[in-house]
Parts: sequence; C-alpha cells; structure tokens
Amino acid sequence: MKLKVIVTLCALITVTRQARQHDKCVCELSNTGKAFPHDKLSTVEDNASKCTNNITPQKTLELESLLLGLERRLPRLLEDVSMLEKEDDGDLYAVLSLQVVENELTEIKQLIDRLNGTTLGHQQLTTETNKQLEDLRAEMVQLETYDTTQVVKGHQDNHRLRKDLDQCRNTLFPTIQPTQRPHGYCPHGQFRNITTPRVYTAGEYAGSYKYGAWGRDPKPEAGKESWYWRVMLTSGDKHSNYVRLYSSLSALIVGVAKPGSVMIHSSNPTTNTIQGPNVVLYGGALYYNCYNKPDVCRFNLTTTTVTTLELPRGTRFNSKGNFCHLDECYPYTDLDLATDESGVWVIYTTSQDFGNLVLSKLEEGDPPTLGQTWRTSVYKQGVTNTFMACGVLYVTRYVNKDTEEIFYSFDTATGAERFNVGIFIKKMTPNIYSLNYSPVDKILHAYGDAYMVTYKVLFS
Ligand SMILES: *[C@@H]1O[C@H](CO)[C@@H](O)[C@H](O)[C@H]1NC(C)=O
Ligand SMILES: *[C@@H]1O[C@H](CO)[C@@H](O)[C@H](O)[C@H]1NC(C)=O
Ligand SMILES: *[C@@H]1O[C@H](CO)[C@@H](O)[C@H](O)[C@H]1NC(C)=O
Ligand SMILES: *[C@@H]1O[C@H](CO)[C@@H](O)[C@H](O)[C@H]1NC(C)=O
Repeated sequence: MKLKVIVTLCALITVTRQARQHDKCVCELSNTGKAFPHDKLSTVEDNASKCTNNITPQKTLELESLLLGLERRLPRLLEDVSMLEKEDDGDLYAVLSLQVVENELTEIKQLIDRLNGTTLGHQQLTTETNKQLEDLRAEMVQLETYDTTQVVKGHQDNHRLRKDLDQCRNTLFPTIQPTQRPHGYCPHGQFRNITTPRVYTAGEYAGSYKYGAWGRDPKPEAGKESWYWRVMLTSGDKHSNYVRLYSSLSALIVGVAKPGSVMIHSSNPTTNTIQGPNVVLYGGALYYNCYNKPDVCRFNLTTTTVTTLELPRGTRFNSKGNFCHLDECYPYTDLDLATDESGVWVIYTTSQDFGNLVLSKLEEGDPPTLGQTWRTSVYKQGVTNTFMACGVLYVTRYVNKDTEEIFYSFDTATGAERFNVGIFIKKMTPNIYSLNYSPVDKILHAYGDAYMVTYKVLFS
C-alpha cells in the first residue's frame, strides 16, 4: 500500500519537474492488470449510435398518421354506404354514390397496404434492434470486468443517488401551478372556432406563383392602415426579391398594385433574398428567412435596408426542417414567421430539439433580438403550418385535400400543450403554404396553390 502511494507520487514528480538533479528518482511501473480495450469500447459506442439512428420519430409518426387517416375515412365510408342503401331505387344517384364508395374503398385499400408495409418494417426493426441491444449489453458487461479502478461502478452509484435525490426533492417541492396568467392576456376572450372562407381570390397573375404569403400589417404606419401586401416566390418556387403593395383589399383582388413593388435587391436569389413562403409584414418591415442561412431577415420598406438576426446554433434551414404531411414536404418552410397582438414570433426547429417545434419571440429593436423561447413536443415534419393568436401557438395538420385541422396549441403564458383542439379549416385548394393571423381584424390569411383565402377567427 505504502509503496503504491510512493510510486504514484514519484510518477507525478517525473511529469511535472523533470530536470532537477538532486531529487532525481527512477520509477518502475508495472501494470499488472490487462490493458483496457479502448477499440472495443468505441465499436460498442458506434453500434449503439447506429442503433439509435435506426429508430427515428418519423417512423412512429408515419404509423400514427396512417392510423389517423384510416380512422377518418372509415366513418365516412359507413355514412356513404348507408346513403347508397337509402337511394337504392335504381336511378342515377345510386350509380354516382356507388362510384364514390368505390373510390373510398380504393383509398382505404391503399392506406391498409401502406400500413401493412410500415408494420412489417417495424416488426423487423424491433427484432433487429432487440438483438443488437442484447449484444451491446453483453459487450458492456464484459468491458466492466476491466474496470478495476471501479470508475464505472462509481458512476452507476452516483446516478442512483442522484435519482433518489431528485425523487426526494420532487416530493418535498411539488411543482407549483401558476394561479394567474403572467402574460398573454387575450382581450377578445378564448379562441373558439374559425368561419368558412370569406375571401377567395387569385389576384394578379392568376394561376402563377403557387407559393407565397399575403396579409395586412398589424402595426401600419400612418396613412397605410388599409394597405395589403403580397409576396410570391418567383424564383423556382423558393425565393423572392420583392414585396407587392396594394392600397386596399379590393385593389389586391382586382390586381391593381398601387403603390406597387418594393425591391430588396435586383438579383434573385442573392444575399438576403426571401427564402420560403412563411413571411410577415409588421411595423413597415418584412420578416422572413434569409437566403441560405438559419437567420431571420428584417427588410425595412422605408429605408429598403435589411438587418439580420441569427437563430441558435443547430437551427435547421435550407429545407432540412420543413412542414410536411404524409405525401409531401413543403420546400423551404424551415422558418415560419408569425404575428399576433404582441408582435412578431418565429417558429422553427433545431437538431438539439430533435426536430420538435421551437417558438421564440422576436424583440423589436435595432437590430432585432431573440426574446424568450419555448420548446414543444410536436414534431415539425408532422405538421403543415402554424399561427399565433393572443400568445398561443396553433398548429395545423393535413387531413385531406378539402380539410386542414388545427389540432394542437401551446399557451406561452402557462406552458400548457393541447393535442385535441379539433378545429377544422375548409380549404379551397389542397395545400396551405402560409397561414398568418392579423390581430387588427382577427382574420386568418392563408396562401396556397396560387390562391389567397381569409377566415375570421371567432373568440368567445
Ligand atoms: C457491431 O456491429 C458489427 C456489425 O453490425 C458486428 O459485427 C459487431 O460484432 C458489433 N460489435 C459489438 C461490440 O457489438
Ligand atoms: C401484408 O404484406 C405481406 C407481405 O407483403 C403479405 O403477404 C400480406 O398478405 C399483407 N397483408 C395484408 C392484410 O394485406
Ligand atoms: C366551427 O365552425 C364550423 C363551420 O362554421 C362548424 O361546422 C363547427 O361545428 C364549429 N365547431 C365548433 C366546435 O363550434
Ligand atoms: C425603418 O427605418 C425608419 C427610418 O430609419 C425607422 O424610422 C423605422 O423605425 C424602421 N422600421 C423598422 C421596423 O425597423
């Protein structure tokens, strides 16, 4: 024992003060234990990370969406079949209904086939993963025998102690529920429903520019209160270099653009070009995802200058964190800008959040800064759009080509998440590429497949 201590001390001395003549000492170290097999540990690590990569949230989500689709279609089929039975008097209506039912059956058959495909895949994945996990565990047990210095065991004990401590602390200080909403007070009451479409127009350039956004500035400059704006992705459905302004809603509908276009830059795309459709106009400035960067750009329409705000490291951009549904992802929808009663928000996702929706308040100022941030448990690629109203984030998903559902909400005042909002949006075109709430008139502005639509938000 004593000898061991001396040897260790001596080893230290030789490292730190090598060249002192008079206290020169010689150490002989003999390692009686086996050398630790570092290469083995690193293969185990590699295999473990491969194993984790095989199981992605996307796989679970796909299954969930398929089941949801099936759940929605079966009651409709039932309804249509009973209608068919009632109509069965040999006339034309029955023939038509029969065709509808046949179509539905085909769709359901396709869904079941895809479901069968995913479940088979899942079963295989589960078996493989189980086998891999068992191998890994065996390997780790073996590696632990090398742990003569008891480091791993020490870690395990610490982990156990920490868990006990946390449990103890949680029973002592149960989470205190806030009794009052600290902020996010909504003067109009609670979000209850939305109406059927109010305005439905192609405006100028009928049929062109599938992707874009439009709306009203919630904080307009004096004299511009009735103005409307429109941004169309004119370059490859991805980029745009100007905002189009109209003096009123009817001017936008009939396509008389006065005062007309305000250019960011004559080239498209280039630095600070608009990337993706989810942009908003607020306080006389356009907020959008900057070209080829995980940044928010703010284009001041008066000075025609751009200031940028860098989002956190790991933010997904360039079509890596899009809005999606089962059959399609909407390109370059990584960043979704939104307005509500309290200003501008940005909705995005990061690698460290595993692709889940993250919501940040943008603080006005020069340059704009990132305010408070909230993390949700909704996977961004499983939803189709979002908007903000009264400090609450609302998230939509694709049900079918006629219907979108507001299914989820996140209240920034309380942190409460709801997965059962259940408000349906009647669509005029199959896809909504941008959706934004205007607190001035409580209108939702939607843009998709070259059409612009409004819905009135009903509060109670
Ligand atoms: C890691 O995976 C490879 C190939 O899948 C396998 O041959 C090897 O035995 C595994 N190693 C460990 C330590 O599990
Ligand atoms: C599921 O797929 C397997 C293999 O492709 C097939 O043998 C089986 O009949 C399918 N089951 C159904 C219910 O379609
Ligand atoms: C919401 O409005 C739609 C269409 O106006 C209506 O069919 C639906 O029943 C309403 N939903 C609720 C929860 O009030
Ligand atoms: C745009 O620039 C003008 C002139 O400098 C300034 O008064 C205004 O506050 C700016 N707007 C925004 C939103 O930064």
